Parts: sequence; C-alpha cells; structure tokens
Amino acid sequence: MASNDLNAIAKAMVAPGRGILAADESTGTIGRRFDSISVENVEENRRAYRDMLFTTKGIGDHISGVILYDETLRQKSADGTSFVDLLNKNGVLPGIKVDAGTKALPFCPNELVTEGLDNLQKRCAEYVKLGAKFAKWRAVIDIGADIPSATCIAANAPICQEAGLVPIVEPEVLMDGDHNIERCEVVTEWTLNAVYEALYMNRVSLEGSVLKPSMVISGKKCPQQAGVQEVAERTVRILKRTVPAAVAGIAFLSGGQSDEVATAHLDAMNKLGNLPWPVSFSYGRALQAASLKAWRGQAANVPAAQAALAHRARMNGLATLGKYSADLEKKAA
Ligand code: 13P
Repeated sequence: MASNDLNAIAKAMVAPGRGILAADESTGTIGRRFDSISVENVEENRRAYRDMLFTTKGIGDHISGVILYDETLRQKSADGTSFVDLLNKNGVLPGIKVDAGTKALPFCPNELVTEGLDNLQKRCAEYVKLGAKFAKWRAVIDIGADIPSATCIAANAPICQEAGLVPIVEPEVLMDGDHNIERCEVVTEWTLNAVYEALYMNRVSLEGSVLKPSMVISGKKCPQQAGVQEVAERTVRILKRTVPAAVAGIAFLSGGQSDEVATAHLDAMNKLGNLPWPVSFSYGRALQAASLKAWRGQAANVPAAQAALAHRARMNGLATLGKYSADLEKKAA
C-alpha cells in the first residue's frame, strides 16, 4: 500500500474531536469484564455486547475507529450486517488487535514479552481482506523493584504497514505498583526512546503510524497521587522529547484510570496547546465501563448502555480539543 494511504488513515484515526474505541478484549479479558456484571462469557453474549456498542446512534461523531478482536472482526450485528460494514456505514474505521498476548520473558524475572510475530504476515493479509484498516500491538512494561530491565519492541509494525494496515504502537507502562510519578516519567521516557529507535531500525513510516502510550502517572499504590495538571505536563514533556513530530498522532490508553480522570488528563494536555501531533484517546475501560455496567446483558438496558457510551465518547471528543469541563459530566447524555 502506498505510504500516503497509510498516512491518510492514520490522520483520520486521530482527527480533531474524535478518537478510538478499544473493544479488542481477548476472550479471557472480556470474561473478566463479564464476571463483574454476572454475564456468561459465551460467543453470543460477546457478540451481543459488541453489537450494543457498535449500534450506538451517532457513534461516528466522536469515535474514529474501533479496535476489534479476531472473533469480533468476523461477527455480525443482529440484522445480519457484518460489524465491519456497520462500522464503515457509520464512518468508523475497523481495526484489529494483532498481538497474541504476553508470556514470561526468558531471563527477565517478572517481565513479559508480546507474542504474535509468527504468521503475522499471513494474518495481516487476511485481516485486510476482512476490511481492517489499522492494527494494534501491545507491549507491557511493568515498574517494580528491579524492573523494567529490558524491553522488547517486536518487529510487528513494518509487517502491518507492508500489508496495508496502520500500526498502533502500544507500549503500556503499567500503573500497578507503588512507584511515584517521577519513576513513571523516567521509565516512560526510556521506553519511548527504545520504541522510536526500534521503529527507525525497522524502517517504519512514522507518518503512517499512531502511538498509543500510557500517561505519566503515579503508581496505583503510591501514597502521593499527582494531580491532573502535573500528569499532563510531565506526559507532554517526555512525549515531546521522544516522539517525532512526523508521527500521525497519539491516542492514549486509559490503563485503569477512572473514566472522568482519563478524560480530564487528556483535556489538560490539549489545553497546554502547542503540541506537534494530535493528542487523542484509544480507551478501552474508560469508554466502556459505564456502558458495561448499564448493560448487564439485558436487551432492555441497551438504550441506557448506548447513552453511557455516547456520553463518554462526547466527553473525550471535547477533551481532544481541550474543551472539556467536569460540569459537562452532569448533563445527561
Ligand atoms: P484501556 O484503555 O482499558 O487500558 O485499554 C486500552 C487497550 O487497548 C489495552 O490494550
């Protein structure tokens, strides 16, 4: 695929006022989400849940793309329309998770490496045929006493680009742990430097790629929790040091932040202004949590669940423009 096609897709993914819905939970992860609402983790429930999300009226207003899981990319809406066609009809780009999860990293206790390079070329070619426009690959970096010691930024991005998929490069520095925000800043800066060195060595076209980083934030168990402004300033500072301006855009993961905090952080970064790339969202939990809770597996709850998703998408859309305020939360979706 011509690199300017990739660039056009990448730009559309982070267009002002819009961002990405991460709905690519693996079967195991969606099972944990369903446990919280006592819904059985069977294919029909997974399909019905994603159907509820994707048929939300006006989903394309603030959602530019949806990351799907392999199973979901092949599923259909209740009326028989494929999810891919449904999303396209609503102006939403279908994307696909292409990593195969994580496993223990040899010789590095407590660290993980992402699997999925085997057959990636073949899988990408099939995903393109099925209608995917972009692909996500997640690496996990955990902060602990003696970790991270190393990072594995696998050579997936050039394979995706060769197949015609925009790679979302996702190095997630986990929020778990009692580290302070300073340590998170150091580790995130180091990680992003390693990412961009690896992407350069792998000849990835930065213009046809999107970065999905974690924010610089205090560890969940750290007694000192940094405020919104500090998170925004530290995050933007290290992004400016490490992420080339040629990258099409940045779309953050939420990583376990509460819905409103994730929105406030994104908004504060955009309020700082003077950013060399669009700064948007690619949230999973922070977009879906309220909707999942409202849904509870009941058809009767679909309107309320869709209203909850539409509301969060709108709040985050405003945050990409630096136009969010907590007051807007009170107004029902
Ligand atoms: P969260 O926003 O819930 O962290 O999910 C984003 C994602 O895609 C994780 O890989």
